[in-house]
Amino acid sequence: MSNSGEAELLHTFKGIPFTTRSSPELLKSLDTFDAREDDVLLVSYPKSGTHWLAGVITKLYNTQVTITSPIEFGDISRLEELNKLSSKRIIPTHLDYNMLPPNFKNKKCKMIYISRNPKDTAVSMFHYYRDNPNLPTVDTWTAFFDLFLKGNVVCGSWFDHFLSWEEHEDEKNILFLFYEDMKKDLPKVVKEITLFLSLNVSDNDIQDICKKSSFLEMKNDTEKENSNPSHTVCALTSNRKLIFRKGAVGDWKNYFTPKQNIKFQEIFNEKMKLSKL
Ligand code: A3P
Repeated sequence: MSNSGEAELLHTFKGIPFTTRSSPELLKSLDTFDAREDDVLLVSYPKSGTHWLAGVITKLYNTQVTITSPIEFGDISRLEELNKLSSKRIIPTHLDYNMLPPNFKNKKCKMIYISRNPKDTAVSMFHYYRDNPNLPTVDTWTAFFDLFLKGNVVCGSWFDHFLSWEEHEDEKNILFLFYEDMKKDLPKVVKEITLFLSLNVSDNDIQDICKKSSFLEMKNDTEKENSNPSHTVCALTSNRKLIFRKGAVGDWKNYFTPKQNIKFQEIFNEKMKLSKL
């Protein structure tokens, strides 16, 4: 990070860096959050395709649903606002499994975890750090690469986040999805989501939803709309224009040096030795 004053943009709670957009009081009171049985959680490490998934899911319902702001976003009054919502809630979050309000677990709420190749996630996050005034400045890709591998970035270590959720992968109320599968065959993944959420959506409608959820369509829609700062899917910004950058698989190859790739692979193999990935 280039400037010590910017360190104030982040604070640490239970060992995990958050931006000041998540107040410590809110984070402390998450444990008391009152979940509803029909809540659906959209869970991700930042830059894994959260907005894409949220865009798809909102189009699947023909009843009134609200995509709320992330549960960890804002100050303590947010919890009260979420409580007051009368419609079905789809709640995004970047929280680690261990920090998730226990009520969601006890009530067996449906949760969808989206993950992405961590190398592409790192590159996407590097750009996000550069463009997003809520995050500290990073001068170079090399500097960011080291921060990412150490987990010294917002939301902490990718490895810890993924592993905390993967441990619960076999639970019936949790669906694991991958960004790369969505890129390869979006209709197939959308079908899987409809089955998981018990939604009756025809194949024709699925095709239509997939067309409307392409990278270009979503990017264009965002450019046309007036940003509403209170509407945010990611706790790190309300500026949707920062989200739609490239939307590609394998962009890491344009950034990683051969040496960085070897280092990443070594750490990946070590950290993920018990993972199925
Ligand atoms: P890139 O920075 O690699 O382009 P999140 O929503 O979790 O912040 O993730 C953002 C990443 O998802 C960005 O990756 C963004 O371009 C990509 N993305 C968003 N919408 C997409 C879509 N419809 N298709 C493919 N990728 C998309």
